[in-house]
Amino acid sequence: MSCSCMLDRRLSIRQYGLLMQTDKKTPPSLETLTGLCKRRGFIFQSSEIYNGLNGFWDFGPLGTELKNNLRDAWWQDMVRNPPLGPDGEMLDIVGLDSAIIQNPLVWKASGHLGGFNDPMADCRESKARYRADHLMVYLPTSGEGTAYAFLEGEPAVAEKRIRKAKSDTANFSVVPFTDLPLDQIATVWGPDATKAGTLTEPRQFNLMFKTFIGAMSGEGEDNTAYLRPETAQGIFINYKNVVDTMRVKLPFGIAQVGKSFRNEVTPRNFIFRSREFEQMEMEWFCHPDEASKWYSFWVEARLQWWASLGVDMRNLRRRDHDEDELAHYSTACADVEYQYGFTAPGFGELEGIAHRGNFDLTQHQEASGVKLEYFNQETNERVLPHVIEPASGLTRGVLVLLNEAYTEEFVPKGDTGGDTLLAEPGSEAPEGYEKRIVLKFSPRLAPIKVAVFPLLKNREELVKKAKDIFAELRKTWPAFYDQAGAIGRRYRRQDEIGTPFCVTIDFDSLEDDTVTVRDRDSMRQYRIPVSELKSWLFEHINE
Ligand code: GAP
Repeated sequence: MSCSCMLDRRLSIRQYGLLMQTDKKTPPSLETLTGLCKRRGFIFQSSEIYNGLNGFWDFGPLGTELKNNLRDAWWQDMVRNPPLGPDGEMLDIVGLDSAIIQNPLVWKASGHLGGFNDPMADCRESKARYRADHLMVYLPTSGEGTAYAFLEGEPAVAEKRIRKAKSDTANFSVVPFTDLPLDQIATVWGPDATKAGTLTEPRQFNLMFKTFIGAMSGEGEDNTAYLRPETAQGIFINYKNVVDTMRVKLPFGIAQVGKSFRNEVTPRNFIFRSREFEQMEMEWFCHPDEASKWYSFWVEARLQWWASLGVDMRNLRRRDHDEDELAHYSTACADVEYQYGFTAPGFGELEGIAHRGNFDLTQHQEASGVKLEYFNQETNERVLPHVIEPASGLTRGVLVLLNEAYTEEFVPKGDTGGDTLLAEPGSEAPEGYEKRIVLKFSPRLAPIKVAVFPLLKNREELVKKAKDIFAELRKTWPAFYDQAGAIGRRYRRQDEIGTPFCVTIDFDSLEDDTVTVRDRDSMRQYRIPVSELKSWLFEHINE
């Protein structure tokens, strides 16, 4: 195609409100995503038949597969085959699965009992509860009159109230609620209130869930324990066990995936911030002199890893924490951030990479009285290693994969493949095209890898052959058999759950033992001998 021709085509595409496939996609709204997740069996509200439970979610059949695939990809690329180090050397990382409930002294030593708090504010009128550090306030610059609070990123209600009071936002400055002097809180109109003066002062709230061990027994006996708020401490308290049993040498890592629990004041944004979630954390133990080098290495490696899963680099960014954001023990911390639909055009945290120094080992050494130094037999040196910690959310990662995969596009009618066009959500299909929703997961992560269809359900020989092929494929991959409805509709159902390949058995298959394999993204169809089907799929699923 000549240059001017391509330009013409691009312009006409723009006129239709469409995007080129290489354009950055408009992220789906949370309603769109939660609707799809419920409709197609990815994620359900927890305890739904009892009206749900705020901050808890259940993973349905497809969501479970997707989450397991992300977990397995992380485990494979972090533990079994980690990236090569900065000098091209092989890295040593071992796995762990520690208990969720640990001796409460762990949380005392780690600082969680004393300091794992969020500030919260209540509205006495609406009974709404807010993370005080997520509230912003339009404060009158005159210093007099009502101030209007809003949740970060959602100023519309406050701005409407300002207009209604015949004023203008230009007469206000925006300040964090937590920066207000206490005597000014009475002038603040809360987001869900009908008047000013209903918000309480911020109070610190510990995020750990309490539980009790064994039967409640004698007077004064404290059997309180806590559900872990992070997987990391399970690693620190097993550091010595690993060193003593695995013959690991500095530097090395210990990785763990598992559930964590935080009694979040305001769980929000679907599975972005929930009260029960899963984390994938790795603690990299290294010589103090080398910690800076490893910190730089892991920040870059983690960013690249998310991109390797097919996440658009334009939706990822690194954000270095300002000095005043750092925990007192941390010398540096960077987040891998993602542009979620609900943060766009801004970004939100996906993973944090922290330089924790030797804070945790020092704390546990002092509190337990057990020496946690590493002894280097070659140099006769004893050191308390420093730690670099890439800590990411598995459930939050699933949200990123769903955001990233969700695509609305216009495809030529009849599923003939070829010229698909990326659609702006909500735009109308041009002449000759129809809309499809497709989840473009990389095949490695797709919940179902292959679907098998007989062309017609009432032809016994087609059904039998299709079932035989399905039985063979499901030995190797999560596969799905579907004989209901027109082939085009069956393709669309698989598109919507992100199945990369569909295999159709038609009358030619009975003659020449070949099948049609249809590729989800290009919608191209390939004729493949049944004898080569597995190796063809193997090659394309693992590419
Ligand atoms: N050990 C360090 C640690 O836990 P964090 O930044 O509190 O650090 C790490 O948590 C990751 O866990 C976050 O980047 C996020 O992906 C995930 N995460 C934290 N709180 C979460 C929540 N309430 N819901 C879902 N994911 C959460």
